[in-house]
Amino acid sequence: ARTPTPDDKFSFGLWTVGWAAQDQFGQATRPALDPTEYLPHLAEAGAWGVTFHDDDVVPFGADDATREKGFADFKKAADAAGLTIEMVTTNLFSHPVFKDGGFTANDRSVRRFGLRKVIRNVDLAASLGATTFVMWGGREGSEYDGAKDVNAALDRYREGVDTVAAYIKSQGYDLKIALEPKPNEPRGDILLPTVGHALGFIAELEHGDIVGLNPETGHEQMAGLNYTHGIAQALWAGKLFHIDLNGQRSIKYDQDLVFGHGDLLSAFFTVDLIENGFPGGGPTYDGPRHFDYKPSRTEGFEGVWDSARANMETYLLLAEKARAYRADPEVQAALEASGVFELSQPTLAEGESLADLLADRSAFEDFDADASGERNAGFVRLNQLAIRHLIG
Ligand code: GCO
Ligand code: MN
Ligand code: MN
Ligand code: MN
Repeated sequence: ARTPTPDDKFSFGLWTVGWAAQDQFGQATRPALDPTEYLPHLAEAGAWGVTFHDDDVVPFGADDATREKGFADFKKAADAAGLTIEMVTTNLFSHPVFKDGGFTANDRSVRRFGLRKVIRNVDLAASLGATTFVMWGGREGSEYDGAKDVNAALDRYREGVDTVAAYIKSQGYDLKIALEPKPNEPRGDILLPTVGHALGFIAELEHGDIVGLNPETGHEQMAGLNYTHGIAQALWAGKLFHIDLNGQRSIKYDQDLVFGHGDLLSAFFTVDLIENGFPGGGPTYDGPRHFDYKPSRTEGFEGVWDSARANMETYLLLAEKARAYRADPEVQAALEASGVFELSQPTLAEGESLADLLADRSAFEDFDADASGERNAGFVRLNQLAIRHLIG
């Protein structure tokens, strides 16, 4: 159960294991290999899928012939390794042209260029059989509030996403867009900073039916938010299209640690939700378990593959624990005692009107609020049972 199989649907961004570890303060500590060279290693480690940005495989600005050959070679190598290309995404952040954004740059010519780059990449994604098209708007934002008309920027963001979504539909591609929220880094403040902001944005789209989310563990945690609650609300809204799993320790720079190497207890409940669903039933996630982490700069290639395996092993260990947690009769009894299942019961009875509620003296006039306020919820005991399963 701790050895990954294709059924686990573990996938990795090429830019994760492919990161040569150059950072703000120092040069790369590992050589960059040819993109195809990572694939057999990923497969051997137990991955099922691989994802990439256009520019991870073929350099920005390459001519058409180079581009075609690059992607053809990559597809051949992925097939040879038995890896599924499940998601493709666009680099709208590295080249200086995108320093003020792709879809929301103040400069209109940059926006037109960005849209062309994305549309070209949509065709590529469809031709490679990817079913998710991620949009992470890392450069969509600002450092200075006066430098961005946020109303206009959101109009342009909507225009860009709707144009791409309409194109996907017009071509009949089996492809869905997944927006990836992040609060900051590289911009001082990024538009669509959290799952909640992005859900609000999707509700304003014309083609929002094929637009959902790709929430990343560390990104919600960088905003001090609860990732498990974030993906829960995305699920509730029918918008959890993809996930980026990794580790982050509190509100600081984007650490991109191995999954579970940040907030382990939070990771446990993330896996519990993904694997076991909500306690009272409801929508579930069955998409790829995609890792978006970075092998630390201290690591050589041995550490790159150790860390790739660590993501999957940690996930599988947590899945094992989460299954045992849910199957434990003591946990079920504690969930029951804490009223966790009772929350699935509608507040008004079937057919009950507000007038009925107003007439129900037991609900208000005769309700003993003080006694109810004294009730022991038992949430701490329940949480300790989770700890016992996790580390006991
Ligand atoms: C980041 C983002 C990226 C995106 C990727 C896919 O913080 O750098 O998470 O890694 O996931 O660009 O669009
Ligand atoms: Mn990230
Ligand atoms: Mn991150
Ligand atoms: Mn990501």
